[in-house]
Amino acid sequence: MWKRDEQDSQFSQMIEARLSRRRFLVGTAAISASSFLSLNPIAKAFAADSSSSLLNFEAVPTSTEDAFIVPKGYKASPLLSWGDPIFNDAPEFEQSGKQGSAAQLRQFGDNTDGMSLFEISQDRAVIAVNNEYTNYEYLFDHGGKSMTADDVLKAQAAHGVTVFEVVKKNGEWTLDKSGQRNRRITANTPMQMTGPAAGHELLKTKLDPSGMKPLGTFNNCANGQTPWGTYLTCEENFNGYFGTSGSADLSDDHARYGVKAKTSKYQWHDTDERFDVAKHPNEPHRFGWVVEIDPNDPTSTPLKRTALGRFKHENAALLINDDGHVVVYLGDDERGEHLYKFVSKNKYQPNNGAANRNLLEEGTLYVAKFNMDDKDLKGSGEWLELTHGKNGLTKENGFEDQAEVMIFARRAATQVGATTMDRPEWVAVHPDNQHVFCTLTNNKNRGVKEGQPVGGPNPRAKNNYGQIVRWLPKAGDHTKAEFEWDLYLIAGNPVVHKGTPYAGSDNITPDNMFNSPDGIGFDKAGRLWIQTDGKYSNSGDFAGQGNNQMLCGDPMTGEVRRFLTGPIACEITGLTFSPDYKTMFVGVQHPGERGAPSHFPAGGSSKPRSTIMAITREDGGVIGA
Ligand code: FEO
Ligand code: CA
Ligand code: CA
Ligand code: CA
Repeated sequence: MWKRDEQDSQFSQMIEARLSRRRFLVGTAAISASSFLSLNPIAKAFAADSSSSLLNFEAVPTSTEDAFIVPKGYKASPLLSWGDPIFNDAPEFEQSGKQGSAAQLRQFGDNTDGMSLFEISQDRAVIAVNNEYTNYEYLFDHGGKSMTADDVLKAQAAHGVTVFEVVKKNGEWTLDKSGQRNRRITANTPMQMTGPAAGHELLKTKLDPSGMKPLGTFNNCANGQTPWGTYLTCEENFNGYFGTSGSADLSDDHARYGVKAKTSKYQWHDTDERFDVAKHPNEPHRFGWVVEIDPNDPTSTPLKRTALGRFKHENAALLINDDGHVVVYLGDDERGEHLYKFVSKNKYQPNNGAANRNLLEEGTLYVAKFNMDDKDLKGSGEWLELTHGKNGLTKENGFEDQAEVMIFARRAATQVGATTMDRPEWVAVHPDNQHVFCTLTNNKNRGVKEGQPVGGPNPRAKNNYGQIVRWLPKAGDHTKAEFEWDLYLIAGNPVVHKGTPYAGSDNITPDNMFNSPDGIGFDKAGRLWIQTDGKYSNSGDFAGQGNNQMLCGDPMTGEVRRFLTGPIACEITGLTFSPDYKTMFVGVQHPGERGAPSHFPAGGSSKPRSTIMAITREDGGVIGA
């Protein structure tokens, strides 16, 4: 095992060496990009065009204001805030925190996160959006200090997914409370397990002996969208909702996922025994999945897709490979966890909607191994198959069957030798359908904890700023095992950390610096939108970086420009566009968290509320163009 100090200095030297030969600093903007581009003729075409930048807006400076600030010539207004009624008969939001579960069930959930828009007609669409979690200090008048059974139901109703229709009038999209598709999905909505783990012993509970009918979804982080019109919501930090006031001897697998036999801060297990792990130790196995929802049918049952593996899912970046296979890239957001890829067994049929409905039910899951032998910030990699009976995933090694490989995908990934990553957050596929980008948000354990060595796509010890890795599959075929990768950017602070790895890559400057890239997505023209969930202290390592923000990158030149800044103590997360790309929807999550002095969006002495913002251009043009 490495000794910590030795390791730090050794790898610092390694990085310094790279810095000194300028490969690191020039790399992402020029050298790496050009070698990366040489892999792909389509990307070359983009590169030839890159003298005319993709980014055509004026950069916004950092901000510590309690405001949502967009570039000159742009405007932004709230579309929907936590607690807003989404049905005609639903009560208006009340500041008091005294509204009960019945109201919250008919209102927009809390902590808006990943979202997708589905076009219905030219002036009507339906948006599905995650409500990741809730903040008791604002949800309740008592701040969570005296929880009743109805308070737990209210908290459960603040989680999940909200589906709502929007209509366009005079170029502006607004909620339609009469929308036929409007729906709340919560921690108690009946769902169905599908795929290799459905009905498995490990998914059976006293309350559901079939192991097929879980209730609800929660901690829905980011999302995905399928070409057959469904929404994918990803269950992330599900472990935090389970606990007990009693005692239980839980498995090592529970420990790997952070499920503990102690009291949970959400306190659901006190009045809802489903969340008491001493009584229902299999209940946590029913969470940590990707859930497929039909936003056009409010009576449909959400489907948990166990073929995509169980971990702390961030998003689900789906593409149709040239040969018709559906490929989904998936990050597991925890320090030292992994990056995954699912390839469907069956192929997408563009004109056969019914046949596409179950493409996510069957397929093969892989996990990424990045080769880093050349000690460079680029290299090759391979996808390792997670199929029972292969790669050591056998009974002798503790895997009874394919269901166990999926339920304990993290353990399977370790077994096959996957690379431990700096917290994989969102994955986004470039519109060329070939290059794939993933944010690695930060990792204080890198180079510190055993099994998390510095190198490859995770090049810094105690990585407090994060980076964005990108890869290209062999021959542009996402079903192939081999890929090549490099780093698009390494975030940092070039003012505080001149000339060290913590200054960041050469495309990071005092004018565009930020920390902890998280949400990413491409628009149709290939602009890479980058959202941050970072430290907003604006001091120390983060001096001059201000509140969380959204930036825009040219994926080929490496140029990065700040597009907006959020209010106090928020995270910017969630991104979707109107079909004409003239309205961009962006989520402001938990402004004023932990009692920070925010009154966003209403101002005055109002409670801060998570809010989806609609951004347009004053001249009605395409966002960013
Ligand atoms: Fe919900 Fe990893 O962010
Ligand atoms: Ca995130
Ligand atoms: Ca994050
Ligand atoms: Ca957050």
